[in-house]
Formats: sequence, C-alpha cells, structure tokens
Amino acid sequence: MRFPEPMMEGPLSVETALANRRSVREYADEPLTPDSLGQLLWAVYGVSEEGPWNRRTVPSHAALYSMDVYVVAGSVEGLEPGVYRYDALSHSLEEVQEGDLRAEVAEVCLEQDWMEAAPVILVLAASFERIQQKFGERGVAYAFFEAGHMSQSCYLQAESLGLGTTCVGGFREEELIDLLDLPPDHHPMLVMPVGWKV
Ligand SMILES: Cc1cc2nc3c(=O)[nH]c(=O)nc-3n(C[C@H](O)[C@H](O)[C@H](O)COP(=O)(O)O)c2cc1C
Repeated sequence: MRFPEPMMEGPLSVETALANRRSVREYADEPLTPDSLGQLLWAVYGVSEEGPWNRRTVPSHAALYSMDVYVVAGSVEGLEPGVYRYDALSHSLEEVQEGDLRAEVAEVCLEQDWMEAAPVILVLAASFERIQQKFGERGVAYAFFEAGHMSQSCYLQAESLGLGTTCVGGFREEELIDLLDLPPDHHPMLVMPVGWKV
C-alpha cells in the first residue's frame, strides 16, 4: 500500500496535543483509513526532507536511522490483515507476513488483552547491526532514545487525528521476534497499539 502525501497542517497546536495526550487502552470498533495510518507512520518515522540524508520527523544519531517500523494490521480499509514493514522513502508498506497476529502480539506483550482491539499495532524495532557497527555498545542506548522520540511523535500525531495509543514496553522479546519473524539483528524496543478513541 502506497500512502497519500501526508498533511502538513492539522487541527491541533503542538501545545494542545502535548497537554491532551494520554495513554489510551480502549478503541472504537472502526477500521483505520489509509490516510490516517499513512499520516501516523509519517509522524513516527517518515521523511520530512528529501535529499542526501533523507532526514526524518524524528532525530537520529548521525542520521543513521537504524529503526524499522512494523505494522501488525488487523483492521485497515483496503489492507489485508498481516504484518507489514513501513518503507519511509517510498511512504508505503511492504508485506512481511499474511494473517491477523494482533491476538498473538497481545499475548507476548504479557497477556495485555486490551491490545487486541486496536486496529493496528506498531512495533518499533532496531537493527543492532546497523547501529553497533558505528557506535559499538553505546549504539544500543541510541536505539532506545530513537524509539522514545518515535513513540512521542506517535502520541502527538494520534492526538491530532483523534486516535489513541499507548507505549507498551512489557513484552517477551524473543517470542515477539519469532512471532513477527524479524531479521536476526532486529530487536523490538516498543510496541504501540493504535485505534480511534471511544
Ligand atoms: C517505556 C514505557 C513502557 C510502558 N509500558 C507499558 C505497558 O507495557 N503497558 C501499559 O499499559 N502501559 C505502558 N506504558 C504507559 C504508561 O503506563 C503511561 O505512560 C503512564 O501510566 C502515564 O500515563 P499517560 O501516558 O496517560 O500520561 C509504558 C510507558 C513507557 C514510557
């Protein structure tokens, strides 16, 4: 799925989004639209300046961009349930795996069953190979920082779109890697269910 160009103006100021943002764990039974999912993914890790560095909406140490965003999709208009990887450069999704894995993701997230009701669950994963080649062990800390920036962007963009999200750090890492069939050097840092607020 290729997303439409993201909007550059929205209904909320940054200040209002910051003030109103809360972790939301209950979602309406309504699918996400391609527009809303594309806008959210752009905010989380999209390209905001095309050029030699392809700079993004979030800062990254040495502009290395060592993260990948996986979308565990269950209910998105025009998108088959499955696991997808967000390709920031083409602002599109590439399929990784077929089938609705939301219940299984909720289970490996320490049985946090409320997550299943979210139309999509984002998994922010770091490529340790990419980041450790350049920064050694300290690179792992940089990956956590980057995930934190992405998570805050997700909260703020969700707030502006009328969506709700929660940053989930409680999960059994090896089981999540196996379930999503992540590349061997990829480590999930945070999981973010997203859906319309009730
Ligand atoms: C690193 C991190 C991990 C978190 N993990 C979970 C989690 O596993 N489950 C959950 O329901 N909330 C989780 N949260 C959300 C916090 O519980 C929440 O941010 C906190 O209670 C403050 O509430 P607020 O975000 O609504 O202001 C996590 C937050 C952070 C920053």
